[in-house]
Amino acid sequence: MLEIVTFPNDILKRKTNPVKKVDAEIKEIISQMKETMYKNDGIGLAANQVNIPLSIMVIDTTSREEEHEKFQGVLINPTLVEKAGEIKFKEGCLSFPGLQVEVLRAKEVIIKAVNEFEEEVMLHLRELPAIVFQHEFDHLNGITFLDRLGGLKKRLALEKYNKSLKEKVGA
Ligand code: CO
Repeated sequence: MLEIVTFPNDILKRKTNPVKKVDAEIKEIISQMKETMYKNDGIGLAANQVNIPLSIMVIDTTSREEEHEKFQGVLINPTLVEKAGEIKFKEGCLSFPGLQVEVLRAKEVIIKAVNEFEEEVMLHLRELPAIVFQHEFDHLNGITFLDRLGGLKKRLALEKYNKSLKEKVGA
C-alpha cells in the first residue's frame, strides 16, 4: 500500500505529467493505487495523492449502493470534453482526513482518457461518477476541493481542517 499525501503538501498543488506508455511500471502503479484506495475506503484516487506526479486516476463508486450511477475504472491522461448541469454534493478527500465540504460540480461530463489496457475511451459520466471524476481531475491539475469553494467557505473549511490537524498532533 502507498502512503497518502495530505494537504498542504506541495505535490497536491502541482499539475501532473502525462503518461507516455502504459508499461509494466505504470501497471504496477495502478495496482498499488487501487489497493491504497480500497484500504482507505476511498471511491477515487489521483496519482499525486500518493506522491506520483503522473496523470492517472482510479475510481470505484460501486460500494455506494444508494447511488444509481456507478463507475469503476482507471483513467490515464484524462481530458474533459464537455460538461452540463449542476449538482451539489458533500465531498471528502483522502488528502484532507476528517474534512467534508459541499462542492458545486457539473452533473454530467463527457471525458476522454486512456484506460489501463492503453485503449482510448470516451465516457459519459453522470452524478456520483461525474463528481468523483471532476474531483480527481482537479487533483491531476493541482487543484483541491477547497479551491472550488468561495472565499469565506474556503477559509472556514481550512480553519476546521487545520484545527483537526493540531488536535491530532496534540493527541
Ligand atoms: Co481528493
